[in-house]
Amino acid sequence: MTYIPVIDLLASDAIHQEFTVKGWVRSFRANQFIALNDGSTIKNIQCVVDFENMDEALLKRVTTGAAIVVTGALEESQGGGQRVEIKVKTIHIEGDADPEQVKLTILSPKRHSLEKLREQAHVRVRTNTCGASMRLRSKLSFAVHQYFNENGFYQAHTPIITGSDAEGAGEMFRVSALDPENPPKKEDGSIDYSQDFFGKETNLTVSGQLEAETYALGLGKVYTFGPTFRAENSNTSRHLAEFWMIEPEVAFNDLAANMDLAEDFIKYVIGYVLEHCQDDLEFLEKRLVEEDKKKPQAERATMLLREKLQFVISNNFKRVSYTEAIAILRNCKPNKKKKFKYIINEWGADLQSEHERFLVEKHFECPVILFDYPADIKAFYMRLNEDGKTVRAMDILFPGIGEIVGGSQREERLDVLKEKMAALDIPEEELWWYLDTRKFGTCVHSGFGLGFERLVLFATGMTNIRDVIPYPRFPGQAEF
Ligand code: 4AD
Ligand code: MG
Repeated sequence: MTYIPVIDLLASDAIHQEFTVKGWVRSFRANQFIALNDGSTIKNIQCVVDFENMDEALLKRVTTGAAIVVTGALEESQGGGQRVEIKVKTIHIEGDADPEQVKLTILSPKRHSLEKLREQAHVRVRTNTCGASMRLRSKLSFAVHQYFNENGFYQAHTPIITGSDAEGAGEMFRVSALDPENPPKKEDGSIDYSQDFFGKETNLTVSGQLEAETYALGLGKVYTFGPTFRAENSNTSRHLAEFWMIEPEVAFNDLAANMDLAEDFIKYVIGYVLEHCQDDLEFLEKRLVEEDKKKPQAERATMLLREKLQFVISNNFKRVSYTEAIAILRNCKPNKKKKFKYIINEWGADLQSEHERFLVEKHFECPVILFDYPADIKAFYMRLNEDGKTVRAMDILFPGIGEIVGGSQREERLDVLKEKMAALDIPEEELWWYLDTRKFGTCVHSGFGLGFERLVLFATGMTNIRDVIPYPRFPGQAEF
């Protein structure tokens, strides 16, 4: 039996024509009005039942959560709230949902907390909030590929299992096929990884950057978009142990061109969802307004969700050097009054999320690109500036999010790169192939990484990163 997605049905003008729809019952009111949702859109199709001429036993099975198939004519709706509805001719129950059991879940039609939804992540996508967020996530993902495809980039599928630590932060999940009960040992008692599956120690990637760099130095403009893994013990609303990262890398781009690319890219993908996700954004916006009503005036958002997205597209990101930012932070009220958890005393301090958010939300009140960070607080591969103490790094900070992008111009000089690796005890043997690229036609190149979930957080207005990925992974959580 062919059937039509609800999204198409709601846009159809084929009045009196017969259609079949399939979906899950959201509610069944007055034994007459079925609100049916199939996930294609946040909107339901109303299916109107002539209950006097329908099998009573069948109608009893039309309960919240049940999967049903409805056939009937499309008619102009008598009631408000919808333009068209289905005048039901037949109903087929594909899967029952026992009301007694549904009552105990988040499928029951009442407001459930996001925490509760997280505990039932396997069914939360059937709620409006999660459904809207996940449709938006999908559209954003598509926009990412579209942007790069339209701008001459090739996608590079970088490996997920690697032998290196791209960020040098040591926050890796080990990958091993050895028997954990009885691993082969070397004479000194340590585990002998030469007998492991790959003949060496391996881990899940923390970033595809190093491999992407090698591809940029052949294909020119490339990007990766894949899962990355970090075994950092960060229990925050901004961190995941498994997150998706977008990493463009461009040969011959310097740091300024890198910033231009990042800004243009972010504006494009946000513009895309503003144009293509109207219904979901409208719902999420209203949801935020309701949430705000519970907060004190001072904590409420100053802009509606779509206004905020429009604002980002229409205004230049503010570009500020790390040195300027430190001067601002040292003299700002929360620093002087010791309101920050980490007080900024001197140049060289690493910025915490409280500082980043102050700069974006209180000081500049727009997205900010910070650049030229102290070399000591950044990764080994970043291009050293002439001053010998700063590197051509850039972080993009967003309101409500903090850091959304981290990137840099890369150190293209072999000798400087080697010195840096030696200083940080990074063995050359591990990255011989990376160093090779600095021998065979090395050139200026730059790239960045954007945390996809942080982008989804921003675009949906959601506040916890665990609510914008289907099955979040974080310390103590790998259910589902
Ligand atoms: O700043 P990061 O660590 O940079 C890199 O990994 C570089 N290799 C990127 C590059 O230049 N190609 O991570 C980049 C972005 C951050 O700005 C943040 O948005 C996101 O990835 N991110 C996380 N998102 C969720 N959970 C985590 N634990 C994250 N760690 C980083
Ligand atoms: Mg970073």
